[in-house]
Amino acid sequence: MLELGINIDHVATVREARKTYEPSVVEAALASIRGGADCITIHLREDRRHIQDLDAYAVRDAISTKLNFEMSIEREIVDIACDLLPPQATLVPEKREEVTTEGGLNVTGQRQRIETAVKQLQDAGIVVSLFLDPESSQIEAAAEMGCQAVELHTGQYALTNGDAQVQCLNELTAAGKLIVDCGMKLHAGHGLNYENVTPVAQIDQMIELNIGHSIISRAIFTGLEQAVREMKQLLTNVESNKP
Ligand code: PXP
Repeated sequence: MLELGINIDHVATVREARKTYEPSVVEAALASIRGGADCITIHLREDRRHIQDLDAYAVRDAISTKLNFEMSIEREIVDIACDLLPPQATLVPEKREEVTTEGGLNVTGQRQRIETAVKQLQDAGIVVSLFLDPESSQIEAAAEMGCQAVELHTGQYALTNGDAQVQCLNELTAAGKLIVDCGMKLHAGHGLNYENVTPVAQIDQMIELNIGHSIISRAIFTGLEQAVREMKQLLTNVESNKP
């Protein structure tokens, strides 16, 4: 089944704009699940600009669907993950000055640090996914260190159109095949929206998409449950048209 992961960080961003208690991140998780989310994704950033430590525990305790904990490889955050014990962690690069995650992890460039984080998380029983650009050297390194999944970075695909977008889709498709051939699960995310999601969802053996900005944006007008339902319907359409 193709799972829809809803990234609810933006709900915490609105709350943090006033440092108050609303909107509730837990309510957002529950509304997403009512709308058909298969997974809730939160990113506890080192700078705590949106999700806070208490949110992570509150969401974990409130949901019975999968929690995907997006995180850097910093020791402090890895230790929190090992205490939180989400079923899945997705490791991403993090820079203080970035607006959102930029580019995939450079596994080949910092292999030792990533390997240490992956091992600590896996020893705690957490399934580890790495957020990677569609590059074979990065994917092969992820497989060599025993990662169970790769989330392909679809940001470049989302930023392009026409021939350039077709080229990006071809690269994602080839990378997806390599990920599956290496024995890892195939996920994707970043920049996906109601207009561009279908071709990515159609990539062979894609099993999880993580989407935030576009769904939370639509939710301002439709409510979150409905916004999730509309995205879920697009994924269901892909599933039902599979041969
Ligand atoms: N996947 C990862 C690894 C991300 O860092 C993000 C953004 O936080 C997303 C998916 C969701 O991206 P978007 O908000 O553009 O849908």
